[in-house]
Amino acid sequence: MNGFRTILLGSALAALCHAAPVHAAEVAAGKAKAAMCAVCHGMDGMAKQPDAANIGGESPAYLERQLRAFRSGERKHEQMSVIAQGLSDEDIANLAAYYAAIKIEVVEVP
Ligand code: HEC
Repeated sequence: MNGFRTILLGSALAALCHAAPVHAAEVAAGKAKAAMCAVCHGMDGMAKQPDAANIGGESPAYLERQLRAFRSGERKHEQMSVIAQGLSDEDIANLAAYYAAIKIEVVEVP
């Protein structure tokens, strides 16, 4: 019985310890992939072209949904629809994790 409990506790701890590095790995992979987005969105997620969107600090779920929508054709844009075609599910999750991890500061209009 004691042995069984030890195994349960051990796997719970392993699961906990695993959570942070997996996320860090996604962010790192997303950062590497984001080089292809930087000309328009910047590595900081702030638009470098007048018609591109600021995506740094955006919700990861929203980013992922938009990228999937561009890829499926549900959302259309001359450039983004083409770019999204080349992204795998994993790329999309990693890119969303990276851009969402960027810290932005919001200053309210006085
Ligand atoms: C050639 C310029 C260009 C490149 C490269 C580019 N984008 Fe975009 N992206 C845009 C433009 C322009 C829009 C605005 C689309 C619209 O008006 O619907 C956009 C929109 C988006 C949106 C939706 C933002 C929102 O607020 O709804 C996401 C997410 C996004 N891009 C992610 C990426 C990612 C990730 C990459 C790299 C894999 C990338 N983009 C590469 C130009 C670009």
